[in-house]
Amino acid sequence: MKVSFSKPRLPKSGAYVVFALPGNKLAASAESLDKILDGAIRRAIKGAGFKGERGETVDLFGANGLEADRVVVVGLGRASELDPTKVERVGAGVAKHLLTSGLKAITVVVDDVPGLKLSPEDFAAHFALGFRLRSYRFDRYRTKEPESKKPSVKKLVMLTDVPGKAEVAYAPLDAVADGVALARDLLNEPGNVIYPESYAKEIQKLEQLGVRVEVLDEKAMRKLGMNALLAVGQGSANESKLVIMEWNGARDSKDVPLAFIGKGVTFDSGGISLKPGAGMDEMKYDMGGSAAVVGLMRALAGRKARVNVVGVVGLVENMPSHKAQRPGDIIRSMSGQTIEVLNTDAEGRLVLADALWYTQDRYKPRFMIDLATLTGAIIIALGHEYAGLFSNNETLAKRLEAAGQATDELVWRMPLSNAFDKDIDSKVADMKNIGNGREAGSIAAAQFLQRFVNKTPWAHLDIAGTAWGKKDRTLVGPGPYGYGVRLLDRFIADYYEEK
Ligand code: BES
Ligand code: MN
Ligand code: ZN
Repeated sequence: MKVSFSKPRLPKSGAYVVFALPGNKLAASAESLDKILDGAIRRAIKGAGFKGERGETVDLFGANGLEADRVVVVGLGRASELDPTKVERVGAGVAKHLLTSGLKAITVVVDDVPGLKLSPEDFAAHFALGFRLRSYRFDRYRTKEPESKKPSVKKLVMLTDVPGKAEVAYAPLDAVADGVALARDLLNEPGNVIYPESYAKEIQKLEQLGVRVEVLDEKAMRKLGMNALLAVGQGSANESKLVIMEWNGARDSKDVPLAFIGKGVTFDSGGISLKPGAGMDEMKYDMGGSAAVVGLMRALAGRKARVNVVGVVGLVENMPSHKAQRPGDIIRSMSGQTIEVLNTDAEGRLVLADALWYTQDRYKPRFMIDLATLTGAIIIALGHEYAGLFSNNETLAKRLEAAGQATDELVWRMPLSNAFDKDIDSKVADMKNIGNGREAGSIAAAQFLQRFVNKTPWAHLDIAGTAWGKKDRTLVGPGPYGYGVRLLDRFIADYYEEK
């Protein structure tokens, strides 16, 4: 999808998108088009019962006096209520409406609407972001889809009096959209294509953007004592990897980095504690935390963010085999703490235990934030709307909540406490990898992770529900949502980046 910005002019083909507001108000360009078309727009919206509510659309075909194939009148709702995320939603709605329309070019005219708090350049940029995010499709393996069902839209042209400013406003958002698309692609790829080694190779492509990438193989991890992570991958024919990404964009490249850690289980069968067959295919999405971290690094490098960030992802495949770990095994993690593995399907916490410890030990980061599709229980608690947020630090938690509101990638704070911590005590080792039956399952997992964090400010995001889903969302269709990239990019931009 090519996005460009230029001065207002009537398009010669494709769709021409104009805006309208509640109370039969047309934006300036819509009004002048209505004059050219002899009142056809007003007649059409009246006939359609169009109210100008946000996201409402009316199509006019074959209008006499216009070369474009179609006029689309789009409602903005009350202008004073529009903020960037709402404009993104409007852009996404138009993309969904026109994506397979057969039209190649979509031209959108942005006017100075009275009451609007956003500048025209921000309006244009955020509309384009929403449009681009919603235009995402993963069609790599569909070889027989008829042309008519494929996305037809190839370019989006935003018309504004300030095209230069709009381009500047859009450039960083485009880099973020690249990160989101990368995260979605990685999740969409099945387990036979993306496994730890091929995944690490994909991540190495970020070197082209200036990200330092280091890949640790099993031998290197064994030397470091990362037996918890290794235990998860030991049943698989695919070798485990730990990938470390560094983006040093701050003026002082030695500045203490921010650290993001992701669970990258490329397929979670459950291991010897095998999952039921129904829906097991969905466990190719069990690398959602890592994909968010990789997408974030892509976004930061793409927009040359002035900040030092390290991303660490633990890549493993959880499989049953004669080499797999068994329930009852006791393993010694890199931290020295021992773990009784009572359920091999509680594997994400084992991977993160070593990845967190390694990150803290090597980088002494300003803070650590981990993301993981960690527990089914968080879906029971929060559905697909909020990620579960656990933290030992109030500032970190508040800032993540604010960034969540600003990007519509929401988080909901969950508790940590000594009482919950007791639930993971083991009789034979320092801890066990499950809590007390089905009680507070997401909290037990978070308490487990906390035992691998010393005094470092830390937050854990359980994104099992928000990483993917079957529901059609405003900014994305069913499948992987790419959750976390925009949240963390915004969190960094608002609180940690040099100006
Ligand atoms: N990857 C799963 C969590 C998950 C479940 C993510 C459903 C997305 C959708 C995780 O590894 C897991 O299996 N967790 C177990 C933990 C239990 C054995 C303590 C769970 O949630 O059932
Ligand atoms: Mn599991
Ligand atoms: Zn898992």
